[in-house]
Amino acid sequence: MSFDIVKRFPDPAWLDGMAHKLDAKMQFAVQKAREVSFIPYSTENGQWKETGIGWWTNGFWPAAMWQMYRATGKELYREEAIRAEKMLDEAQRDFKNLSHDAGFMWLIHSGVRYHLEQNPDSFDRTLFAAHMLASRFNPSGFIRAWNDNGKENRAGWAIVDCMMNLPLLYWASQVTGDPRFKLIAMAHADTTMRTFVRHDGSCNHIVIFDPVTGETLETIGGQGYENGSSWSRGQAWALYGFVLSFLHTGKQEYLDTAKRVAHYFISQITDDYIPRCDFRQPEEPEIKDNAAGNIAACGLLELCQIVPDSEAKSYYDAAVRILKAQEENCADWSEKSPAIFTKCTSAYNDLTGRHITMQYADYYFIEAIGKLRGEQLLFWHSERTE
Ligand code: GLY
Repeated sequence: MSFDIVKRFPDPAWLDGMAHKLDAKMQFAVQKAREVSFIPYSTENGQWKETGIGWWTNGFWPAAMWQMYRATGKELYREEAIRAEKMLDEAQRDFKNLSHDAGFMWLIHSGVRYHLEQNPDSFDRTLFAAHMLASRFNPSGFIRAWNDNGKENRAGWAIVDCMMNLPLLYWASQVTGDPRFKLIAMAHADTTMRTFVRHDGSCNHIVIFDPVTGETLETIGGQGYENGSSWSRGQAWALYGFVLSFLHTGKQEYLDTAKRVAHYFISQITDDYIPRCDFRQPEEPEIKDNAAGNIAACGLLELCQIVPDSEAKSYYDAAVRILKAQEENCADWSEKSPAIFTKCTSAYNDLTGRHITMQYADYYFIEAIGKLRGEQLLFWHSERTE
């Protein structure tokens, strides 16, 4: 019997309030999304702002719709999820421009729709995405993150975020019975454990490997403050990603690594429980990232269910504190904007990307509230179902 995250919740009235607020806000967000011809990511002047169809976050909007559908049973959410899923077919047609983010882009909505409704097109989309992700594997031991950008040859670049895309590969092995996808995922997770996660539990964002030998050439700071710093969203991707790799494989080292990253994350969070963008950034200006907080909270809520009860409470308490603090201080429930979380940061050194809205921060909050209200379908792991 695992730690019961629903029964333990100290403030059920708050959770009920969140469910109502989310439904009202997301209905408004859907109404605004239907006025535009792209998938929501960020906002400007209270409106959804345009992004290209290949943008890596585009799976989070339909995933949020499936979460809301599961929570409320309201058909408008299901319809909107399917509308976005069909829009994303254009990104699959332009497959040569896809990155390693195929998991974010398809598993958590097409994979979920296939799981719930056995829709064959959703199955094909998800499996196609898995093939695209598997094709980025470099047999020297890592999954290539990004394509070249005109300036850099990025054949040897891998990023910590990829840990959250691996569930797509585990899914593909599960549905096809072919272990190749899972073996690729585990090879990449092993490399990440060895080369990204530092002894203290902090992580590099980007590691550049020799694309022929697999030798580590250098690390770079990426979306964090600088090389050697600790981008909080990267820590959150690692935390939740290693929990999921453990759930899919049972490999103890993945769980141990998830715990190490979690301990570091919790040790670095300030008294206000709203993560800084980089745990090693200068004290001023105080740049926050709500996305890091909500992703980490989801990872911690899963982690506390797979460790002994005697260990679970500190993970659980940290998750609940983060969610409550971020909601209290950074959530916009009004109809002035279709987005909820206002203090998200795309990258520390992107001065225009500080304290903006990012739809996937809202997605992870919705996912966390769902978990705390007893949602049993883990969108990243289709085996743990009701
Ligand atoms: N995966 C890119 C980011 O977290 O911004």
